[in-house]
Amino acid sequence: MILSHNYQVPEVQDIADFVGDSLGLSQAAARTEADVIVFCGVHFMAETASIISPDKRVLIPDLGAGCSLAATIDGEKLRAWKREHPGAVVVSYINTTAEVKAERDYVCTSSNAVKVVNSIPKDREILFLPDLFLGAFVKERTGRSMEIWPGECHGQAGSTPGIVNQRLDANRDAEFLIHPECGCVTQFLYFAGKGDFDQRLTRVLSTEGMVKHARESQAAKYLAATETGILHRMRKENPDKLFLPVKEDAVCQYMKMITLEKVARSLREMVYEVRVPEDTARRARVAIQRMLELA
Ligand code: 13P
Repeated sequence: MILSHNYQVPEVQDIADFVGDSLGLSQAAARTEADVIVFCGVHFMAETASIISPDKRVLIPDLGAGCSLAATIDGEKLRAWKREHPGAVVVSYINTTAEVKAERDYVCTSSNAVKVVNSIPKDREILFLPDLFLGAFVKERTGRSMEIWPGECHGQAGSTPGIVNQRLDANRDAEFLIHPECGCVTQFLYFAGKGDFDQRLTRVLSTEGMVKHARESQAAKYLAATETGILHRMRKENPDKLFLPVKEDAVCQYMKMITLEKVARSLREMVYEVRVPEDTARRARVAIQRMLELA
């Protein structure tokens, strides 16, 4: 089975059996009966698939496809943070290594982070990692006080309020779709909180949420604040609508390392296998299963 994240290059998305966001891809990996999964995405996504389906062979076409956000925290840093907050519940975004996943209580993706945090008893302290913008968004939406790890995605954080304002001014008629990892999400929360932001036209969504919204909305024009790979599916599924990026260069070089040639090689030579040590996988699986059950 070939899985592709929404940020992959168009030609890879087009040959995949399933294209989706982190949650959808985890669910697809969990339910497939295929013996081999070729994961067209970044390394932590393939690791997650391997943890969920330990009896399957999970391949990534390029082992160099990492994630700058996942790289902001490792097991040692997390253990030190936990020692400073004994008894706290650790909620981690899926963009983390297996080693970090093994140290936490809950895992979440951009599409269910609010739901996951809301499921935690109100009297428990929460440590949220590793994305500061997603953390700020979840904190505001749930009203929970949380300690937030100061990590960010190099591509998404660059969609700053200044850039967004210019694009919004030039496209007043467009619906504005923001990924919660974006630097502009805190500005949205600030203005929304003051009540002077046009919330009818703005949505904070996961990548799959954006695709679904574009399909269902009547609007003719959309501005997307996220990695530009998302535009391919939106345009393909809605040829009569206009989709523009907030930032043309919001491109994740790691996602773009996967090419058609590398996917073909992966299938032909069964490379590169992603396998998580069993002890780490067993501990990480608990938190991922909890999320899949909630979703
Ligand atoms: P989604 O789960 O919304 O696709 O986001 C994944 C991701 O890594 C964004 O940088």
